[in-house]
Amino acid sequence: MRVLIAKDYEKISREAAQIVYELVRRKPNCVLGLATGSTPLGLYRELVKMHKEEGLDFSNVKTFNLDEYYGLSPEHPQSYRYFMNENLFKGLNIKMENTMVPDGSVKIGELEQYCRRYEELIKQAGGIDLQVLGIGGDGHIAFNEPGSSLGSRTRLVALDENTIEDNSRFFDSSADVPRFALSMGVATILEAKEIIFLATGAKKADVVAKALEGPVTSMITASALQLHPKVTAILDEDASDSLSRVAFYRFAADAEQKAGARLF
Ligand code: PGA
Repeated sequence: MRVLIAKDYEKISREAAQIVYELVRRKPNCVLGLATGSTPLGLYRELVKMHKEEGLDFSNVKTFNLDEYYGLSPEHPQSYRYFMNENLFKGLNIKMENTMVPDGSVKIGELEQYCRRYEELIKQAGGIDLQVLGIGGDGHIAFNEPGSSLGSRTRLVALDENTIEDNSRFFDSSADVPRFALSMGVATILEAKEIIFLATGAKKADVVAKALEGPVTSMITASALQLHPKVTAILDEDASDSLSRVAFYRFAADAEQKAGARLF
């Protein structure tokens, strides 16, 4: 795994945006896997800037989001569809019909089929070229809470207490946070051809160390990224504070600069 430790949030966002930029330039009809949460906001701002100032063209790009609260309609201001429209899609020349976010308003009886269809759409698009990920305080990627099978696919999931508490900051109270979500599975995520994993802040330090250097376990679903051949983890100094191999990561990052190649 490439582990890059950046000085601040700006730098993390720019580093991540550079990887997306190169992919979109190389493959204008690429498929991006996208995440919500506060961590990727800087990346999205950079992409909007690259579109507006450098003409980075998203007209043939397709996107699939990781997850959506179950029970919220796409118009709900706390829905992830709304978040993506506001924070990214509106600022790009992407076609809205090429942006996929799971629909949290699908009827319960139709969910299984809907989730299977979401997976099929990813396959039909040629698979995800680059997946953006954050990490939850409980080690989740997408809404794959502790105990989620590492073989899981897109499905309805129940949210962990920790996640409800973490996400209550966006709602009037924790009672208003939905208890369920539709989420890509761990196995769905691992099929992406490349992954960018972003984490910031001291609160994430311990869980980041477990995810990147601890045993692979369904109790920290982000640890499954260790099984993927092409992950770049981009962290700020606070989030990297509990890692045991920081000196090595810095050495490898320096070596990359000299070699002009990426070392996974
Ligand atoms: P955050 O959320 O970026 O707001 O910290 C991350 C997550 O829950 O995956």
